Amino acid sequence: MDSIRQAVELARAGNPHSTPVGVARAADESPQLKTVQLDARYLESMRIVAHDPIDPRGGLYDMLRTQVLREMDDNGWQFLAITSATADCGKSVTACNLALSIARLAERSVLLVDLDFKKPKVAEYLGLPGNGGLLSVLKGEASLTSVITEAGIGPSKILVLPGEVCKSGSSEWMASQNMNTVLQTVKREFRSRLVIFDMPPMLTGDDVISVLPQMEAVLLVAGVGTTSLADIKECRKHLKTTPVVRVVVNRVTEVKDSYYGYY
Ligand SMILES: Nc1ncnc2c1ncn2[C@@H]1O[C@H](COP(=O)(O)OP(=O)(O)OP(=O)(O)O)[C@@H](O)[C@H]1O
Ligand SMILES: [Mg+2]
Repeated sequence: MDSIRQAVELARAGNPHSTPVGVARAADESPQLKTVQLDARYLESMRIVAHDPIDPRGGLYDMLRTQVLREMDDNGWQFLAITSATADCGKSVTACNLALSIARLAERSVLLVDLDFKKPKVAEYLGLPGNGGLLSVLKGEASLTSVITEAGIGPSKILVLPGEVCKSGSSEWMASQNMNTVLQTVKREFRSRLVIFDMPPMLTGDDVISVLPQMEAVLLVAGVGTTSLADIKECRKHLKTTPVVRVVVNRVTEVKDSYYGYY
């Protein structure tokens, strides 16, 4: 227990540029992680459907899953950032559905990280109780293992690292040495898992650009009616060195009998 408590304790200080971090061991598959059973009806009300193999609406996420996993595997990538040009395109819904779709594959496991300091939504969309998240870890107020929850539904399980609102200085945290240390720890200690990061939009601030060098691949979500071609081109300028595995076009209303995205 002591080794768990010591794991990933970050030094206490408010300045994200100068805070030293002490990283010990995080525990993949640790029995000490909190476990929560997700509620299928609640998930459905949040447009989270990909946990259910017989729900036809999940099929689009399964197709996306297959395409994304092939790219990630072929290139040996582990970190996938989900972002968009502007707000409200469906990134968080896509991140949750993609994670749950991947978790249905017996040989796959996922850690879903909410990396949106302005509008963290992953815990809300999955119905997880709020008690700490990434910002607490960065500030040295919580260990990584104490804020990660194992969320199960049916036979599937995902690990979730929830987000917390950062009222100011979010891009400084994104670019901080502490963030770098936490991400390196995640990479090392959860190396068997695909790590999906639910990010803010790219063009509404510099949070994404600040942490982009740490990401290995990007999934870009475009919202019909909200994302213009010029927006996508602007994003591409920032994505010259980070490969885009897929562009998901979300909120396509002409897909019959479905309010879910098409790509
Ligand atoms: N395909 C869709 N059809 C209709 N509504 C959708 C679709 N995808 C997401 N939504 C809804 O749009 C809203 C925004 O979705 P979501 O939070 O996933 O977007 P986001 O891109 O993460 O937003 P933000 O930029 O604030 O992070 C939510 O109310 C969600 O339920
Ligand atoms: Mg979001």
